[in-house]
Amino acid sequence: MADNTSLDITDLIDIDNGRLNGRIFTDEEIYEQELEKVWKRAWVMLAHDSMIPKKGDFLQTYIGEDPVMVVRQKDGSVRAFLNQCRHRGMRICRVDKGTAKAFTCTFHGWAYDLAGDLIQVPRQDTAYPETFERGNFSAVKVPRIQYYKGFWFGTWDEDAPDFEDYLGSAKYYLDGYIDRWDGGMEQVAFHRWVLPNNWKFMAEQPTSDMQHSEITHVSAATVLNKGSDAADRTKRGTNPVGRQFFSDYGHGGAWYGEKGAEVPNTGQAMQKYEAQPEIAEMIARRLGDNREVRGHLNIWPTFMVLGNYTIRVTHPRGPHEMEVWAWTFVPKDAPEEIKDSIRRDVLRTFTPGGMFEADDALNWEEMQHVLKGRVARDTGYLYQMVGAPIQWDEGCYPGGSSAHVFSDNAAINMYANYLDMMTSDSWEELMEKRAQHRLGLSAGDTVAAEA
Ligand code: FES
Ligand code: FE
Repeated sequence: MADNTSLDITDLIDIDNGRLNGRIFTDEEIYEQELEKVWKRAWVMLAHDSMIPKKGDFLQTYIGEDPVMVVRQKDGSVRAFLNQCRHRGMRICRVDKGTAKAFTCTFHGWAYDLAGDLIQVPRQDTAYPETFERGNFSAVKVPRIQYYKGFWFGTWDEDAPDFEDYLGSAKYYLDGYIDRWDGGMEQVAFHRWVLPNNWKFMAEQPTSDMQHSEITHVSAATVLNKGSDAADRTKRGTNPVGRQFFSDYGHGGAWYGEKGAEVPNTGQAMQKYEAQPEIAEMIARRLGDNREVRGHLNIWPTFMVLGNYTIRVTHPRGPHEMEVWAWTFVPKDAPEEIKDSIRRDVLRTFTPGGMFEADDALNWEEMQHVLKGRVARDTGYLYQMVGAPIQWDEGCYPGGSSAHVFSDNAAINMYANYLDMMTSDSWEELMEKRAQHRLGLSAGDTVAAEA
């Protein structure tokens, strides 16, 4: 494939045979297309209630590469707007988070209220024409904002489906993480860092790849599980009993254990807390069957939840770089010492210096580095591990799933959704394509198996 020709993404992704070309992780043109077709269209997590609890509280985040202000309004609602001054394009607010009554651009002093409406222009009365209307120059609003169980999500696309429809069957699995406790959740720690790899490497991992953990993380797991009930499991190798799920818009996840089976005690603080009879009873009352579905989960494109309560969003930073924003969440009503123990558990596992995080980062960095090679770029990646036959809406498990924790099905589904997004000009077109692919994948697990 010559470098100076325009790439056609349909040549780079072969869903039926479980193959990807490495150029989807390196090519500038494809990345620009992603900003337009994926990031301008998908629902992205903006904030949790506990990050902006009071009126005037704000934080600055991103949808794709677009900086976005997320602000708690006087009436308790949340609004979001592009953090770009309508005068000459300066960042309106340069602070990451805080509390404000208004935002004044530090270049020429244009001021915006909490909703992003322009409220003051220096010299308007004496130096601007009478026809100048402040109302025409409000910050660009994020047109769709939706609230779901403590989290605020936003999309630039007016035609995007309702957020709960976008979640689809993933709602059941997401609830298993975020809707467990009567008092809700709160964030107690935040880390952000940059890694030199494409954002999709990380997205596919909580979506689909549980199998890497028995190799990549074996040293860390051996140390972490020493002396616990899970130590024997680590020695024997990971038992792949469990389930993987995937749903129409590229979401996916997996967890260990059979329904109702005892989860081995790993000695983690969250597990100890939930083992208390009154807490176990509360979770059973709230969730019923889906209380055991925790392992890892990704809501496309990059809203990730891992079972030890690192909840994160990764922001793309060009084809070769991504920025990870990771929060530690705890049950709000838990005793302070439990919250602190959970915070420490996450600190030693899934933060920039955490044992598992460092293992994962090494893989992604090396993969990106290898892709600099001309031969390596076109060698291709393989996704043909089928685990167990795909089932749709099986028993208590909505969506597609298979009764095996090790499988590439959810990754293939993620890239099928990605391909559909990249080749669709509207949500309507995307939804039509997704419906077709769902049927294709349902019958198609044999395709990968036979390849
Ligand atoms: Fe913001 Fe001029 S760029 S006031
Ligand atoms: Fe990992």
